[in-house]
Amino acid sequence: MSRRRVLVLGAGPAQLGLLAAARTSGCFVIAADRDPGAPGFRFADRRAIVSAEDEPALGQLAEAEEVDGVIAPGIDWPVAIAARITARLGLPHPLAPETAVLATSKLEQREHFREAGVPQVAWETCRTVEEARDAAGRLGYPLVVKAPDRQGQRGLGLVREPDDLDGAAEEALRVSRSSLAILEQYAPGRELTVNAFSFRGRFVPLTLTDREVADPPAFGVALAHVWPSSLEPAAIGAAVDAARAAAAALGIEDGPTYTQILATPEGPRVVELAARLGGGHDADLCRAALGVDLNGLALASAFGEEIDEAALVPRALAGGACVRFLVAPPGPLAEVRGVDEAEELDGIELVLVYREPGYILTPLRRGSDRAGAILAVGDSRSEALARAAAASELVRFEIADAEALV
Ligand SMILES: Nc1ncnc2c1ncn2[C@@H]1O[C@H](COP(=O)(O)OP(=O)(O)OP(=O)(O)O)[C@@H](O)[C@H]1O
Ligand SMILES: [Mg+2]
Repeated sequence: MSRRRVLVLGAGPAQLGLLAAARTSGCFVIAADRDPGAPGFRFADRRAIVSAEDEPALGQLAEAEEVDGVIAPGIDWPVAIAARITARLGLPHPLAPETAVLATSKLEQREHFREAGVPQVAWETCRTVEEARDAAGRLGYPLVVKAPDRQGQRGLGLVREPDDLDGAAEEALRVSRSSLAILEQYAPGRELTVNAFSFRGRFVPLTLTDREVADPPAFGVALAHVWPSSLEPAAIGAAVDAARAAAAALGIEDGPTYTQILATPEGPRVVELAARLGGGHDADLCRAALGVDLNGLALASAFGEEIDEAALVPRALAGGACVRFLVAPPGPLAEVRGVDEAEELDGIELVLVYREPGYILTPLRRGSDRAGAILAVGDSRSEALARAAAASELVRFEIADAEALV
């Protein structure tokens, strides 16, 4: 049998796990990313220096490379591109283009959730700063402003008081791909991620992880995903029900989903659903925790292969597991030390460094400012967390003397 050929949209940190899995499984891997230094290129048989958002170029590439499947594993906007390219080329795909479009718009999602009664925070849209002020008057403070079609905290802002509204609304409107921004009530509480896989309309929840986030100015940036969740079983069950309802509301019947949930005192509130793998090594965490290979399942669904139900049956391989992101000091990266030592510690499954020497590290504001990640397992979540913390102590990002570079 000839090697299956897959086009992977994106070769950044969020696609590392799937790219590695595709390579290991023997696929011919074509990876597209506009950044020639993207860390995932090391797993590619062919590198295309093309933006994962450049639909015409990606369509031509898929055709010329005679691929068997296209997958956008870690970032949202290309999810719809993958669905459209495969539909046009008559290739299998887990999502119909119309469904994929819903999954890439926070606004379409909120509208569908409202129709279907999926629990969410109160929200409104605005086209101007004046409209934002009116909406804020109705919603009250604190509130969150977002661009409906961005991710990775682009255009995302927490607004505690009226004085801060104009700047946040301007920024969200500026980066929005449409002319709209969303304003929503700030929901207090813990956060959960429901990593699931659907096939033939059946939603199978897998790892339910706590999302530990940074404080402003890095509002909303995940610093860790921790399994199992420390929330009460009833709250976890309600979050899973909400994620299932969210997938149903968008018409998602096949493939991986990643659903962000705020667990408020009044019950779960769906932040959004992504019709893809999580971008924070969630599939690797799932395999380490439950023995379920979400990367392999996502690839199988991209090739239109029959899903073996047995592959979805969890077997607890660890008592706890976590992904802890690494945050480096800002400046030009000279060298990263201690990775080998960190990898040798008990329970350390992965130590990932996202950037090469020469890269200019930026202060933590968004997810893309994170410098790496550690995946750790243990007998309990606290042991996994302690192991990840110990490993992260060993990894040192050496910053070059900026003057010496001149
Ligand atoms: N209404 C809200 N109330 C409280 N916190 C919120 C709210 N909306 C967003 N957040 C916080 O911001 C984070 C990111 O929100 P959201 O997913 O909407 O933005 P994003 O740009 O898609 O980020 P990411 O790419 O990390 O998912 C959430 O996980 C949560 O911590
Ligand atoms: Mg999000």
